[in-house]
Amino acid sequence: MLTRLLALAAVAPGLVAYGKKAPGRAACTIEELFESSVSPATEIASSTDANFSSVVGPRWSAWEAPAWSGAIKPATEADLQKIVQISVENNIPFIATNGGHGPKQGQGSFTGININLGSFNTVSIDTANNLVTVGAGVKLWDVQTGLYNVGKEIQTGNSICPGAIGVTIGAGIGMMTGMYGLMIDTLKSVRMITAKGQLVKASATENSDLFWAIRGAGVNFGIVTEATYGIHDQTNEGNVTAVTFVYAAASNRTLFETMKTFDGNQPAKLSFQTVIQFNRASNASQIVVQLWYFGPVSEAQPYIDTFAAAGPVVQSVTYLPQTDLYYQSETAGVCDRGHIISAHSLGFNQTVVSSYEAHFADMTAFYITNPSFAGISVFQYYSNKQTLKTPASETVFPWRDIQVWWLTQNQYSDASLGPQVDKFMIGQRTNLQTTSGFDTPHVYFNYAFGDEGAAAWYSAANLPRLRKLKSIWDPNFVFGNGAPLY
Ligand SMILES: Cc1cc2nc3c(=O)[nH]c(=O)nc-3n(C[C@H](O)[C@H](O)[C@H](O)COP(=O)(O)OP(=O)(O)OC[C@H]3O[C@@H](n4cnc5c(N)ncnc54)[C@H](O)[C@@H]3O)c2cc1C
Ligand SMILES: *[C@@H]1O[C@H](CO)[C@@H](O)[C@H](O)[C@H]1NC(C)=O
Ligand SMILES: *[C@@H]1O[C@H](CO)[C@@H](O)[C@H](O)[C@H]1NC(C)=O
Ligand SMILES: *[C@@H]1O[C@H](CO)[C@@H](O)[C@H](O)[C@H]1NC(C)=O
Ligand SMILES: *[C@@H]1O[C@H](CO)[C@@H](O)[C@H](O)[C@H]1NC(C)=O
Ligand SMILES: *[C@@H]1O[C@H](CO)[C@@H](O)[C@H](O)[C@H]1NC(C)=O
Repeated sequence: MLTRLLALAAVAPGLVAYGKKAPGRAACTIEELFESSVSPATEIASSTDANFSSVVGPRWSAWEAPAWSGAIKPATEADLQKIVQISVENNIPFIATNGGHGPKQGQGSFTGININLGSFNTVSIDTANNLVTVGAGVKLWDVQTGLYNVGKEIQTGNSICPGAIGVTIGAGIGMMTGMYGLMIDTLKSVRMITAKGQLVKASATENSDLFWAIRGAGVNFGIVTEATYGIHDQTNEGNVTAVTFVYAAASNRTLFETMKTFDGNQPAKLSFQTVIQFNRASNASQIVVQLWYFGPVSEAQPYIDTFAAAGPVVQSVTYLPQTDLYYQSETAGVCDRGHIISAHSLGFNQTVVSSYEAHFADMTAFYITNPSFAGISVFQYYSNKQTLKTPASETVFPWRDIQVWWLTQNQYSDASLGPQVDKFMIGQRTNLQTTSGFDTPHVYFNYAFGDEGAAAWYSAANLPRLRKLKSIWDPNFVFGNGAPLY
């Protein structure tokens, strides 16, 4: 895959190439370049400064980490505009980040500055009109708790730590997808800063082409500073039935047959994910199922019974507030930062038991051959009936027909295992594609490795329109590192 990076003539660590601002000098520090143009509350640091780690946006994975030459944390939208303008004028590549959860292949060879969006952390709720507006530094947790506290809810991702806008601009899937569709389906409008440093609004009525493009390919068009969404009244007073099952390896086929019974007829309030993992203590692979039902245990009971019939070795039924459920991503370590973790992903509309069984066997063999591999393979099941109600033409995100979102989180401590992991996982992806139910790969960009290409993320049919819009809004590829459209 071609990765487009603007050339950065960094002369020394901590120094950025100087452009037209001071023709007499070869280079200056990042502080000198930006300081006089931004408000005093904007934080700036070179990578060699002692205070760098307090300014740079934190990253979730250590895989393909960019080599930042410096970092800026703007205090205001106007500061962010200035930072984009000055960076573009001086040919300084940048990546704006918030949660830091979106690593992509190739970013490890990126050199440039980090724009840390963390200061834009306000959540404003308008209960009367059922709207919430979030800033670019808001994490999912801020939205989940903010709405829970006022008796409202919104579809988000399942963890608390990713950036709310970062999740949204890829599509945004999670355990409420069955009830409300994707996060982009409830997105009403955004404010964003373009490659020219202009502040524009996009919605169904303003810059509607841009609004189409940022609902799926948002990382390619600018920096969204603020997003407004529709919200919903709480379901079941905000309480969820959450059940965990653990299955021994020998039960894999029975479990996969159970999962298959939900193909095409998954209830809106029922979501589940199965996690293939290896238990090093027992030296055996196992499968964990997490089932979520947005209603009382009595209503969830038929589904609990269905999974219980597949013979778990552990079954634990809980009933808890949504926020407690989301918070488990923190206590379970899902949000932990600093591990090497890459991802592969593919969407399916069906469960092919023999294919899952072969994948499970291959995973098991890979765990045994590679004792330091601590990755997982996850099948997330969300009803797509609500998602399909929005016409495909509404958003550049094209894959409304996915019911099963397969993703791996390939965790390994020894970086030298990387090539073997990639080769193995790409092989698994090729195998699983043949029984995905789709002729061409349907890949969710936010879960992608980065090598799949724009047609797999946005559909071949959408590419002409998407590329045309790119040529209008970002002709010099200022945005979209790790997400090449060509
Ligand atoms: C532990 C974990 C759990 C996850 N769970 C889910 C889930 O349940 N559902 C789901 O749909 N996805 C999920 N994801 C994937 C997630 O949607 C992506 O990783 C997303 O990119 C995260 O955004 P971020 O702000 O945290 O990441 P960052 O790395 O900060 O940003 C990712 C990309 O988005 C761009 N970006 C970020 N903010 C903005 C902005 N305001 N304007 C323009 N561009 C921006 C960045 O430049 C970068 O290209 C999960 C990921 C992880 C690691
Ligand atoms: C970080 O340190 C550098 C060098 O001492 C200084 O110029 C800069 O202002 C500092 N930034 C912040 C945010 O403190
Ligand atoms: C939801 O849980 C709260 C406690 O967190 C409880 O007060 C309330 O009665 C519960 N409602 C339902 C419908 O279960
Ligand atoms: C784990 O099991 C595999 C066979 O399934 C065996 O080859 C290996 O030696 C075992 N490892 C340990 C530590 O027991
Ligand atoms: C998966 O289940 C099948 C059918 O019971 C069994 O033959 C196979 O050994 C199991 N796979 C693993 C890795 O245990
Ligand atoms: C999967 O999608 C294909 C192509 O859209 C369709 O022909 C098939 O019926 C779908 N299968 C299921 C189980 O929905």
